[in-house]
Amino acid sequence: MSVIIAPSLLSADFLNLDRDVKMLNSSEADWLHLDVMDGLFVPNISFGFAVIEKIATTTIKPLDVHLMIVDPDRYIMRFRQAGASLISVHYEACNHLNRTIHAIKNLGAEAGVALNPHTPVSVLSEIIGDVDFVLLMSVNPGFGGQKFIPGTYRKIRDLRELIKKSESSARIEVDGGVDSYNAAALISSGADILVAGNAIFSSPDPVEAIRKLKYSNKY
Ligand code: DX5
Ligand code: ZN
Repeated sequence: MSVIIAPSLLSADFLNLDRDVKMLNSSEADWLHLDVMDGLFVPNISFGFAVIEKIATTTIKPLDVHLMIVDPDRYIMRFRQAGASLISVHYEACNHLNRTIHAIKNLGAEAGVALNPHTPVSVLSEIIGDVDFVLLMSVNPGFGGQKFIPGTYRKIRDLRELIKKSESSARIEVDGGVDSYNAAALISSGADILVAGNAIFSSPDPVEAIRKLKYSNKY
């Protein structure tokens, strides 16, 4: 199966979101990645329900909502109602992760757990059988356009090992600093899903940049 590409709208032109979402409709992007930030869990504030609801009316792709917020349980239902098909919460932001993951699944969405760069994959041993995907942050969350942290390659391999050992079907998503230079190595390390913001939206031809990421291990 080929890698899933999830462009991050954080790097889109917010004054021309309609244009950018339509551009993504015409591309080989598989999902749209939407970064929700609360100014508490991360030192930045992005967008919320109103914007996601509007994007949902225009996109033909599933919405992958990455919650970088404290106490995400309070808002899971609202994000599902806004149109999220996949919802990830941070391990570092959840006191009762098992409950949160099952709350997402009970709403009919795919449930993911996200890990900050400093959090080892070993903390997932008791939850890996319950999650649909794991989002490995390959930059410190909060901003687009940051430099990829190379230790991520080893985390992908460790996670692949844990998934295999636990007979889990969880997929591995990598988020932060992904570009056409590291995409092939990320895929061969075991990544199933690549999020990319800056690498796509700062390109003069975003549709071609998406295609390049999608087939980067085939060149
Ligand atoms: C960062 C976000 C990422 C970000 C990725 O906190 O989770 O999804 O938008 O952007 P790039 O690809 O520019 O690093
Ligand atoms: Zn993200």
